[in-house]
Amino acid sequence: MKKTIFSGIKPTGIPTLGSFLGAITHWDKLSAQYNCLYCVVDLHAITIRQDPAVLRDNGRNLLAWLIALGLDPERNVLYFQSHVPAHAELGWILNCYTYVGELNRMTQFKDKSAKNAENINAGLYTYPVLQTADIVLFQANLVPIGDDQRQHLELCRDVAGRFNKIYGDIFTIPEAFVPPVGARIMGLQNPTDKMSKSDETSGDCIYLSDASDVIIKKFKKAVTDSDSQIRVAEDKPGISNLLTIYACMTGKTLSESEADFEGKGYGHFKQTVGEVVAENLRPYQQEHARLMADNTYLDKVAAEGAKKAAELAAPTLAKVKQAIGFN
Ligand code: AMP
Ligand code: TRP
Repeated sequence: MKKTIFSGIKPTGIPTLGSFLGAITHWDKLSAQYNCLYCVVDLHAITIRQDPAVLRDNGRNLLAWLIALGLDPERNVLYFQSHVPAHAELGWILNCYTYVGELNRMTQFKDKSAKNAENINAGLYTYPVLQTADIVLFQANLVPIGDDQRQHLELCRDVAGRFNKIYGDIFTIPEAFVPPVGARIMGLQNPTDKMSKSDETSGDCIYLSDASDVIIKKFKKAVTDSDSQIRVAEDKPGISNLLTIYACMTGKTLSESEADFEGKGYGHFKQTVGEVVAENLRPYQQEHARLMADNTYLDKVAAEGAKKAAELAAPTLAKVKQAIGFN
């Protein structure tokens, strides 16, 4: 029997080069060996206040991006989380098997609370429990994620393991798949912080929709450091990040990437990385524009994906309810 992959992505803005290189780019290679579900996690998105029209647009846009970036809806189940009620149902149930002590340790909760001090809501706190439900609902074996989601996956394993200990083997305990290179793409202006779509520093983040000239301009302005060596090193976060992006985009190793720029200056280096990124993204951008013009197709993909996901989720949810003792 084929194993199962599940991953989720929030419709909270245009996807970034970070989520592309850290997560999505690895997803389409996996569909041959696994049953794959990729979910637009709109229930997670509302833990931060969203404008309704923008949220709706972002969701549709993200679905189109997933397809444009190579996830064929014939071979992957693509859908909106809010279309499949089993996520919220199991999320509630698992809230009752998660300790507040565990949630208090979540660094993403601490970061997001600091950034949204006026809206530290209960959903933001139990966010990782819903994420746990997403994953175990499908008995997922593997969860491809960027580095920032490791802690949430550890919690998922703990909660699923606790549930199994009480009720028998109900859930598969999933493994994280974190890519060896590119799991943490950093901001171009603040290379010690991850590149993030909510970042307001201008030029820090590359959006997949950025025009080629905008991309090149952002790379040209990227923060470097005082010496002139182009190599990966802990004390050179800006240069290391640019080399990582270049390596991911070209499929080269980090040392091959370093060799490509031997004896070259920072100006040439930044320009080249910008051009490589812009060139690689262009066909995806064209495909995205084409898909966005085809509402009928996107609606069909979302409806079929939700139907398939609901069917796949039903047996696990039934097993859980039976085990707990619901009438
Ligand atoms: P998000 O867009 O925040 O929902 O994230 C979607 C996926 O992309 C998750 O698996 C994240 O771990 C991953 N991701 C987000 N930002 C980055 C980044 N800067 N570098 C690498 N992976 C990332
Ligand atoms: N929390 C993830 C993020 O911020 C998104 C997500 C929700 C997810 N549910 C998931 C990722 C299940 C992997 C598996 O990026």
